[in-house]
Amino acid sequence: MSPIVNLNEVHKSFGSNHVLRGVSFSAAKGEMVALIGASGSGKSTALRCIDRLEAIDSGTIEVCGLRVDSPTVDLHQLRQEVGIVFQSYNLFPHLTVEENIQLALRHVKKLGKDESRQIALTVLGQVGLKEKAGAYPEQLSGGQQQRVAIARSLAMSPKVMLFDEVTSALDPQLTGEVLRVMEDLSSQGMTMILVTHEMAFARRLANRIIYMHQGKVWETGDGSMIDSPQTPELQAFLNNGL
Ligand SMILES: Nc1ncnc2c1ncn2[C@@H]1O[C@H](COP(=O)(O)OP(=O)(O)OP(=O)(O)O)[C@@H](O)[C@H]1O
Ligand SMILES: [Mg+2]
Repeated sequence: MSPIVNLNEVHKSFGSNHVLRGVSFSAAKGEMVALIGASGSGKSTALRCIDRLEAIDSGTIEVCGLRVDSPTVDLHQLRQEVGIVFQSYNLFPHLTVEENIQLALRHVKKLGKDESRQIALTVLGQVGLKEKAGAYPEQLSGGQQQRVAIARSLAMSPKVMLFDEVTSALDPQLTGEVLRVMEDLSSQGMTMILVTHEMAFARRLANRIIYMHQGKVWETGDGSMIDSPQTPELQAFLNNGL
């Protein structure tokens, strides 16, 4: 099966800081790939390169048949295929939940009022927040706001979703709510790549775990790699988390 996302020998520097040093990994349709690693190891940068929020210096990145490393890549098309959710929800405070979700549907997809409303309610249903359609972000818990941010991304019908530490700002209970939504999405066949510190979640659900260290894919495997790390670096990383 050909991968939906494929990074091959990706290099990326910020000035003299060589952040990605030949990173290669891929995600096939319906797979969940988890990126783990210490702060500064390049996880967010790798994720941002996939959506071309950062341009790479060398190597190739392919997403849904698009060559992301090409200077002429159709960014509009790329951003329709890829949804990205960050730790901060970035909802507009003066718009209701439903209006936040409808924004891109109306202005990017140019859908009418009724159709975008329908889609907003559907995706809110998917994250268990249909009854909050008319609420304002400040009336929601952090976990609920993050689920709205996920719904907003889902509304654009992406083929791949990228999640960068989406639960890091949440307490354990709210984290659980958001992880459940992600588990549902995965079980419905969504292709997802996530940066996470939730080792138990990654261990149980990820098809592949990528441990990044100093800008390289240091160790990779399935969930069992959490129980039996092969490199001293991953061993130390996992021990620090306990
Ligand atoms: N836009 C940028 N400009 C300059 N340097 C950057 C930029 N983005 C990231 N870096 C640097 O790249 C390195 C890797 O950062 P990155 O955010 O990818 O790490 P990370 O693995 O996601 O870490 P964390 O777990 O703390 O989120 C760091 O040294 C960081 O300072
Ligand atoms: Mg990061």
